[in-house]
Amino acid sequence: MDQNESSANRRRFLGQALAVSATVVLANQVLAQPQPKEPGKGPKPTPPGLADKPSKPAAPGNAGAAAPAAGAGPSHPSLEQPPLPYPQGALEPAISATTLSFHYGKHHKGYFEKTNTLVEGTPFKGKSLEEIVKGAAKGKQHQKLFNNAAQAWNHSFYWQSMKPKGGGAPSGELAQRIDKDFGSYEAFKTQFTQSAVDHFSNGWVWLVLDKGKLKIVDTHDADTPLVRGQKPLAVSDVWEHAYYLDYKNARKDYVTAYLDKLLNWDFVAQNLA
Ligand SMILES: [Fe+2]
Repeated sequence: MDQNESSANRRRFLGQALAVSATVVLANQVLAQPQPKEPGKGPKPTPPGLADKPSKPAAPGNAGAAAPAAGAGPSHPSLEQPPLPYPQGALEPAISATTLSFHYGKHHKGYFEKTNTLVEGTPFKGKSLEEIVKGAAKGKQHQKLFNNAAQAWNHSFYWQSMKPKGGGAPSGELAQRIDKDFGSYEAFKTQFTQSAVDHFSNGWVWLVLDKGKLKIVDTHDADTPLVRGQKPLAVSDVWEHAYYLDYKNARKDYVTAYLDKLLNWDFVAQNLA
């Protein structure tokens, strides 16, 4: 090996040694950096606005969010169907346990499930049910979400609008409000019943507060006074699934039973307070 060859070998060796050292230093620097967490690992963030703000105690339509079942479902908390405020057979004979089991356990549950699916990946995710209903009502592009979210809210409000051994004429201040705005309880009852009987196809009949006055209004499909500037006080579901197993096509008999045996005036008074 002559002197020139020996010098060239030395330069090659030094170059390789420097390259190895640089690689080790770079690797150490990379390892020292905070590593991103795997998706789904570590504590979940608490999305803002999930703690719902029910205007009334235990208002099931506003139950908002709750943690999903462990190990399943979306990574953020979902809206949870609130429990019925009474056992499924508690409204018999006016409404059978069979009707309530299907109505609550299939129809209402389905609206919550669809709403949870539809809000995934949208700005509606993490909002309360009431916020979703009001937000989705603002654009036709959200019609499907509105239909399901509003049906979830309306049904929760409906369960609370009834109670075992309810119905009949209210008393006290509420009786005076009914007399003032409808003329009499009998006039209120006649108007509510007629509104339910005359309502074409599926929908809802509501007692609402509108500009300080009690009114009866009906809405079609999933529509709700929540998005019409009216304050809902009580509601009767006049979709056929609400009464067909018990009353067949006799909607008038169902609404009469609702008014005479079920209407929860305590809930109306709470909403008026
Ligand atoms: Fe229904």
